[in-house]
Amino acid sequence: MSWLTGFLKSSVGRKFVMAITGLFLCFFLVIHLSGNLLLYIPGGQVYVDYAEKLHSNEEFLILAEIFLFAAFALHIVLAFSTTKDNLNARKKSYRVVESKRKDRAWPIAFAPDYMMMITGLIGFAFLVVHIADFKLEWMWTDALAGKSSAQKVGIILGDSVRSVIYLAGSLALGYHVSHGLQSACQTIGFNHPKYNRGLKIISIAFGIIVAIGFSSFPIIAQLVPGMLDFPDIVDVEVSRH
Ligand code: HEM
Repeated sequence: MSWLTGFLKSSVGRKFVMAITGLFLCFFLVIHLSGNLLLYIPGGQVYVDYAEKLHSNEEFLILAEIFLFAAFALHIVLAFSTTKDNLNARKKSYRVVESKRKDRAWPIAFAPDYMMMITGLIGFAFLVVHIADFKLEWMWTDALAGKSSAQKVGIILGDSVRSVIYLAGSLALGYHVSHGLQSACQTIGFNHPKYNRGLKIISIAFGIIVAIGFSSFPIIAQLVPGMLDFPDIVDVEVSRH
């Protein structure tokens, strides 16, 4: 096992684990967005059926949640540790910045790779609020009592402060993965001059889909009254109580 400890302590090892956890989180985003898009099927019943199916297999759900939170925790801890490494090698990194500056299409301060820490932190802050809203239902105990999973989305995102937080979080995460996906693929070895341009395009397209897909929910909840309201629908779970 000492090779494993050594690997995880090395800069290459930490970057590798960060890449694997990042890719797993991108996969989660695809699943989560696909599930959420079911809210746009009129009536809300399809989404409620999906949410019930998800919650019916408790063992699977607990296992998936453990994996998910472990991946988030590792990814965040390693992000701080590798950024610290980079800061320690500050002199060298300044030289790299200077040499890269000439061939960049972006103003340097807004380029996605320099924005990873800030967009990651905004995304994390959003996630804390999001888990408090939907998993723990803090501050929503009375408003969400007896409501179905579909109705909860409409109620929470109908709040204007929440909609701004969800919008900012979705845009920040889209920006984060638009660079993160290509960076992670290159770290795990998918790095060839022949494919790098295609990988960059796929990664940016993925970021745009994540940003537009997730931000559509707070935007629609605010701008299209009634579309995420589902007044008549109840979960089987809810109706049993
Ligand atoms: C902005 C649009 C979003 C909506 C409408 C939404 C909706 C939901 C809902 C309804 C749940 C509760 C699922 C359940 O019944 O257990 C949930 C959970 C969750 N969401 Fe989102 N979500 C959004 C964006 C995001 C984003 C961008 C992320 C990624 C960081 C995310 C990460 C999570 C996580 C980690 C959980 C907890 C999963 C679990 O433990 O089962 N969500 N979301």
